[in-house]
Amino acid sequence: MTDTFLDLAPEGRVHRRVYTDPAIFDAEMDRIYGNAWLFVAHESHIAEPGQYVTAHLGERPMIVARHTDGEIYVFANRCTHRGMKVCGARRGSKKRFVCPYHGWAFATDGSLIGIPHGKGYNGKIDQKDPDLALDRAARVDSYRGFVFACKAEDGPSLTDYLGPMTRALDNMIDRAPGGEIEMTGGGFRQRYKGNWKLHMENANDLMHASIVHASSVDAAQAVADDMEDGEEDHALQMFKGNGLPLAMMDEVEIHGFPGGHSYMGGFYKEGPITQATDEDPVVAQYRKSMIDAYGENRAEDIMGWDTFNHLIYPNLILNPKHQQMRLLQPVSVDCTIVHSMCFRLKNAPEEMYRRSVRFLSALNSPASQITTDDIAMFNNIQIALDEADSDWIDLSRGLGHDRPHDNGGEIGAVGTSELPLRAQYAAWRDLMSQ
Ligand code: FES
Ligand SMILES: [Fe+2]
Repeated sequence: MTDTFLDLAPEGRVHRRVYTDPAIFDAEMDRIYGNAWLFVAHESHIAEPGQYVTAHLGERPMIVARHTDGEIYVFANRCTHRGMKVCGARRGSKKRFVCPYHGWAFATDGSLIGIPHGKGYNGKIDQKDPDLALDRAARVDSYRGFVFACKAEDGPSLTDYLGPMTRALDNMIDRAPGGEIEMTGGGFRQRYKGNWKLHMENANDLMHASIVHASSVDAAQAVADDMEDGEEDHALQMFKGNGLPLAMMDEVEIHGFPGGHSYMGGFYKEGPITQATDEDPVVAQYRKSMIDAYGENRAEDIMGWDTFNHLIYPNLILNPKHQQMRLLQPVSVDCTIVHSMCFRLKNAPEEMYRRSVRFLSALNSPASQITTDDIAMFNNIQIALDEADSDWIDLSRGLGHDRPHDNGGEIGAVGTSELPLRAQYAAWRDLMSQ
């Protein structure tokens, strides 16, 4: 079977079964999601003992909780009695998790602490039996407040796994004059009828933006044409930004790394969305608070790193400049849930946060005029790949022209190179052949 996996994704092309075969999906959950460090929570949601969020490791539902010992535990949201989900809420605070079916009680580290009417077992059950505790992730670690868990006992440490992508997390956090960011709880969830990889392949695909999103580009341009200079708001700038001519998209830097990670440079060239001008009073106030906190050189370094999407393989997409995050939850071979969230920068003007929320709404909400276009592509690709007309898809744009970069990865010869997709498949081959 291992040879078969490698045959299905040679460099530059992929067999359609990789998106449609439930057995391959199961193998991906085991070999990719079973070995990766996966984001499960932000510490601002679980600062106090008893606070918890629910999350997923691959398809497997989990609870992430701060225990009375101050540590964070990640354990299965599946009762060891007869399999009921122990916790139905997305987040909250509890002294213990009591299963809604027959009342078995679990502590916030997942250990079993109570069985109602336990004498029915005639002394033949031991509450302290570790097999009766909720099954823990093998490893839990956090990077500057971002909590990740890993099902595998062995493998790289979290910082080694993140590698160059720690810079994206650092930059998002350093953009806070107060040195911390806070997840505020809100966000969007959207389910699409397509494979999880379709979304990961889209996020750093500079070739699609002006074509797939033409309708919102054109509508935004028509509105902007009727406006005076300086009247355009962020959403309008975002919609227009996707219409950057392809020759200029080619000027944008695109980076791919071992491990499947990648990022793209920024492609907003004008207007308040670039955050480059002090003519905007919010930006001026923000810049002042950054300089007060970090000094001028360091503040300009942090704010001047102009990038857009950063992909942490296999399922996390960060946008540090706009404080956005997307997390993919694979459900089945042809179904995926996208969780979209944003962050508040401590000690930044409150309007910065409102802009981040507006950005999230315009780009990632189910009513967005941008992401809905992408999701229409994913749904239709999935339908087409299910049919057997032709077996292969092509990922060869830029192949052979990308070159090594001193950041340890490769840089695309042009911004529209499919380098990020090939980086993902290099990681896919590595993990699937283990
Ligand atoms: S299934 Fe949880 S107590 Fe029975
Ligand atoms: Fe898109």
